[in-house]
Amino acid sequence: MAARIQIFDTTLRDGEQVPGCKLNTPQKVEIAIALEQLGVDVIEAGFPVSSPGDFKAVQAVALAVSEPTICGLTRAVENDIKVAGEALKVAKRARIHTGIGVSEMHVKYKLRTTPEKIMERTAAAVKYAKSFVEDVEFYAEDAGRADNEFLARVLEIAIKAGATVLNIPDTTGYCLPEQYGAKIKYLYENVRGIEKAILSTHCHNDLGLATANSIAGIMHGARQIECTINGIGERAGNTSLEECVMIMRQHSDLGYTTGINTRLLNPVSQLVSEKMGVVVQPNKAIVGANAFAHSSGIHQDGVIKKRETYEIINPLEVGVDHSKIVLTARSGRAALAYRAKKLGFDLTKDQLDVAYASFLNVADKMKEVERDHLLPIFEGCVTPHYA
Ligand code: KIV
Ligand code: ZN
Repeated sequence: MAARIQIFDTTLRDGEQVPGCKLNTPQKVEIAIALEQLGVDVIEAGFPVSSPGDFKAVQAVALAVSEPTICGLTRAVENDIKVAGEALKVAKRARIHTGIGVSEMHVKYKLRTTPEKIMERTAAAVKYAKSFVEDVEFYAEDAGRADNEFLARVLEIAIKAGATVLNIPDTTGYCLPEQYGAKIKYLYENVRGIEKAILSTHCHNDLGLATANSIAGIMHGARQIECTINGIGERAGNTSLEECVMIMRQHSDLGYTTGINTRLLNPVSQLVSEKMGVVVQPNKAIVGANAFAHSSGIHQDGVIKKRETYEIINPLEVGVDHSKIVLTARSGRAALAYRAKKLGFDLTKDQLDVAYASFLNVADKMKEVERDHLLPIFEGCVTPHYA
């Protein structure tokens, strides 16, 4: 049987950390409702202690959404945890996500403390969070660059204190897929008490490896992926939800499944893009405007004959109505004839030759040839001209 992977969406927390992407409470609620319909398991709704506005937003999301677990982020700081506990009181299912830095870089230079103090604070934070909610997730910040033995000791302490989800963030997006996979495997095999918890991936995209690292993580024992819609997030972003979900679906032989309704991926992507004011890059996998667009003659000829020649995903499966045949100077006769037919012109071979010559003249002068330019070309071929 396929292993069920939990989808932990952090669009409203890590995603919202993108400069200029701040959402107000109604916008957060609207996105949270869309995420619930999409079928995510956990919504990280915000960082309640960070501002009164975020506290209210987390509460509002917790009230509006009942199926997914609602999660609030905290540092390993008593007041953060208390405030998160307060904000999450109204949630049907609540989770506190607390944690602390574990790499030498974080322990020595950011927190200016010692490994011993990190272990003490881990125990205290998780225990305190447990006094508010049953479901506590612990994050070991910068785990990607941390020493595995120390990381394992910290996680053992978190489990003993009651954490049931252990988040292994590659905070700086440093790891290679093999390294990240090996780290998860090491923890899965060496952390005492690991059977009482699940491991979670949380990867950043500084080297463009966030999705690959997350998949490597689940292939080595992680059972939750933390991700965002469109891969938005700090700096180069987080793991993209839609990419991970479709990788697991397309490679069903890997043996993983999620609760995501993939037909909603594109509409939710557009909603997040619109509310956050961040345009999705056209070549973005799954949800970019060009993800199902074909512009070169060779590809167009193949797709027109059989879609699967150049598409591994049926666009309908991810909520895109149809593949697009884009007419440019690189397009061929097959694509032009196809578009002519769509516009009501059944061209003979000779008519198509004439139309194609005129088309290339126009196409060389512009990026994409649209309907308004095509109509006179087709009309000119089928209507005899008497000069
Ligand atoms: O990237 C990171 O380490 C985080 C943690 C706060 C979970 O976002
Ligand atoms: Zn992060």
